Amino acid sequence: MIRIALTKGRIEKKAVEILARAGYDISELEDKGRKLVFRLGEADIEVVLAKAADVITYIEHGVCDVGIVGEDTIMEHGKHFHELLDLNFGKCKFALAGIKGRDFYEGYTHKIIASKYPNVTKNYFNSKGIDVEIVKIEGSVELAPILGLSDAIVDIVETGSTLKENGLEVYEDVAYISTRLIVNTASIKLKKREIDELVSRISAEIE
Ligand code: PRP
Repeated sequence: MIRIALTKGRIEKKAVEILARAGYDISELEDKGRKLVFRLGEADIEVVLAKAADVITYIEHGVCDVGIVGEDTIMEHGKHFHELLDLNFGKCKFALAGIKGRDFYEGYTHKIIASKYPNVTKNYFNSKGIDVEIVKIEGSVELAPILGLSDAIVDIVETGSTLKENGLEVYEDVAYISTRLIVNTASIKLKKREIDELVSRISAEIE
């Protein structure tokens, strides 16, 4: 048996579509109610729905074999697993953004950056050799510069409409991201045949 940890929400819908195209029976996932564990019909595969950061925890602890998760979460939480496929959906970017029309680098004062992704933010500014103060925010990070808490944010930009509707703009692109298929380091050897089959069926359906 192999167990897939699937990020619930935006990624889930597209991932379930790919599983269906790859020939798996996704009927339990279509009518899921509040259930969290599902079988893919007769295939010896179980799917669990989890929050993105927890997908990584389950893979790293070996209680799930295969994970489907955004590269944003991978960049924030580390990489003690194999990354096998770029699923080529959920494409967006990390960007440094702030109040429209301002020069982020103006002046000599220490900058404050708000983000849901403190590690991504720290790594980005370290790579530029700039020391910043990072404030962790849990959601709607766009509020931080509007309220005057921070000089800028590091956040995900997909369509750009959240920034635009709040008077903000991208100052710099930080990294392009997409959804990835990851595998536990032991499972890749111990369940090679099952994982190879799943990966080849999924990779044939990547757009
Ligand atoms: C994400 C992200 C931005 C928004 C970007 O937030 O943090 O706020 O989507 O999308 P856009 O460029 O298409 O407008 P999410 O909707 O996940 O909510 P959250 O801020 O509450 O985490």
